[in-house]
Amino acid sequence: MSSSLDRKQQAWSALFSEPVDALVQRYTASVGFDQRLARFDIQASLAHARMLAAQHIIGAQDLADIERGMAEIDADIAAGRFDWKLELEDVHLNIEARLTQLVGDAGKRLHTGRSRNDQVATDIRLWLRDAIDRIQTALKRLRTSLVDVAETHADTLMPGFTHLQVAQPVTFGHHLLAYVEMFGRDAERLVDCRRRVNRLPLGAAALAGTSYPLDRAMVAGELGFEGIAQNSLDAVSDRDFAIEFCAAAALVMVHVSRLSEELVLWMSPAFGFIDLPDRYCTGSSIMPQKKNPDVPELARGKTGRVVGHLTALLVLMKGQPLAYNKDNQEDKEPLFDTADTLHDTLTVFADMVHGIRVNAAAMQGAALKGYATATDLADYLVKKGLAFRDAHEVVAHAVRACIQAGRDLGAMSLAELQALHPAVQADVAEVLTLQGSVQSRDITGATSPRQVRAQIARLRAELTA
Ligand code: ARG
Repeated sequence: MSSSLDRKQQAWSALFSEPVDALVQRYTASVGFDQRLARFDIQASLAHARMLAAQHIIGAQDLADIERGMAEIDADIAAGRFDWKLELEDVHLNIEARLTQLVGDAGKRLHTGRSRNDQVATDIRLWLRDAIDRIQTALKRLRTSLVDVAETHADTLMPGFTHLQVAQPVTFGHHLLAYVEMFGRDAERLVDCRRRVNRLPLGAAALAGTSYPLDRAMVAGELGFEGIAQNSLDAVSDRDFAIEFCAAAALVMVHVSRLSEELVLWMSPAFGFIDLPDRYCTGSSIMPQKKNPDVPELARGKTGRVVGHLTALLVLMKGQPLAYNKDNQEDKEPLFDTADTLHDTLTVFADMVHGIRVNAAAMQGAALKGYATATDLADYLVKKGLAFRDAHEVVAHAVRACIQAGRDLGAMSLAELQALHPAVQADVAEVLTLQGSVQSRDITGATSPRQVRAQIARLRAELTA
């Protein structure tokens, strides 16, 4: 970035009698990070210029000059040749100054009926809309990966946990589909958020609107906005749409973090349920036996920073009087980092999840060790006429006997079970197996392989629509 510029080139220079302090210049500049709005800044400027020409506020030749100049600037930025100047503070003034350098007076007319306040609000909305669309694509890929693995493991048995204690047997497919649901609600939240992002601030000008006869609907149409911000003070000042996005993003990351925690646990030799491909893990520099699940650990860690960005934006907004305040320049870095972190995390996870290798024997072994079919035995006794509380008591005795003998419920003989309660008959055998247990849970939303396959069919239709 270059830094030699006559102060006269600064947009507000006539009023000022001394140059801006060098540190203040760096302190107040945003061009170091808001350059990434450039593509959208140009797009919005072109829409504004076309409307100005259509409304006869600028001439046809001005518009042609602006379009020519912007094409050159766009190409220079894309090629990394654009000379960003710190003295020009931000992306908007940099592009406008260069335009004027290239095309003269037409460049100076572009800002008619506009302020950087409605300009930046427009740019961020365009940028965020695009970011949301890219994140939705990544989210869909992750959901598809989870459904793929769930399909492979629709019959694979594992312990379901409550309090991280073995509770009841479930299928691994069912467990993974729980995350598909979470990420599905995340996708809905982003769709909803996008609607409110997608409204046009331009026309609000600095804060009060403008006396030029702007055609705001034309600009909105050209930029693909669904509507127009209806109050100029609100349009230039609130960043609730960015906060909403960060809230939705924080929830996605919380879901990713829960999945990460499980992947880390499952990969620990103490569980031994899964293995992750080597390309998502690292070794230890000192302990030769280690293979660490770095990617899920980092994702769990990065969740903290995304949640932090949400807090940053909420606090940024809370004390601001109407209308625009420079505080709002601080919206960009948290917003950019949130979108980047989310997009990269989802993209890495979509691939990693596909590579999960399952140790079905270890999963099944853990379910057998934990008396996971105790509820099934109680339900069996209820179906034979006992009250549930009495059945619960009988089974508690059975589990206690099994713990003492060091074996599973399924290993008890019919005679032993009948000694606990005479209602037990030979058909008890099928409810005490893990397969029998999951197959019996066969209502919508439950864990039976049949239900899991039905959910997969529904999700496939949704994901390919
Ligand atoms: N760089 C500023 C921002 O990010 C652009 C708007 C500046 N407006 C102003 N009146 N100083 O918010």
